[in-house]
Amino acid sequence: MSKYENTKEMSDYYHNGFYYGQFQETKSLENMISFLKETHSSPLKPDFKWESEYKDTFDLKPNAYSYNKILLDFIFEQKIPQMLISQTGFSDLVLGDINIRKVFPGSVYMGWHRDTYKYNHEIAVGRTPPLQKIIFYPNLDAKRSLQLKVLPGSHHHVFKSKLIDKLQILFSGSKNIFSSNNNFLLFDSALFHAVPELTEKSGSIRVFFNFCHSAQLSLFKGREDLHREYLERCKTIFPLNSPPADLSI
Ligand SMILES: [Fe+2]
Repeated sequence: MSKYENTKEMSDYYHNGFYYGQFQETKSLENMISFLKETHSSPLKPDFKWESEYKDTFDLKPNAYSYNKILLDFIFEQKIPQMLISQTGFSDLVLGDINIRKVFPGSVYMGWHRDTYKYNHEIAVGRTPPLQKIIFYPNLDAKRSLQLKVLPGSHHHVFKSKLIDKLQILFSGSKNIFSSNNNFLLFDSALFHAVPELTEKSGSIRVFFNFCHSAQLSLFKGREDLHREYLERCKTIFPLNSPPADLSI
């Protein structure tokens, strides 16, 4: 018997590598959904545009966080910084970037992959340590549809050979993540995940909140305003010696 006591939340997150959480049903959630509906269907404000990185997939550029203050307000009103600590156990996570993406049928299916991995490479590929990502897949047209698949626990089960590593997909049960106006997905980006083919004719929208450890902020160059504001606001909720609040950039 260990002398260390773990909470159920941290234990589950450590084991599974993801958490399917529920937003608080407050005005902030209503505002966020209205904002996303409008962003999805109306022309963008001047100086912003949709830029395609993958086929039939469009990201809000130059950046989402300065497009509307509601995105950062939402994080704090929904008590996301507190939730991140209680799930992951990391108290130094900082919001590195926010991305809003529109996806249309025909977009490239992204098969099973990890964002961070090291097979026979000399050096790991992707960001290390892995990011802790929150994705919100609202169902704006009220139809629930499959958005992502994740393989629970796979961030701990890594084989040296990519081929053998991928074999575990065949015998481990995956979890389907559907669009929802009340839920979000938090996951460790070393976890195996796959983006299925999307079928909504009118397209769908999703928001990514990418969190990293405070020492990794340099990975998000050009986002310093966001980091500064996030850390400033953390000071009001973690007034005593909280690592994110202590960091000065
Ligand atoms: Fe990915």
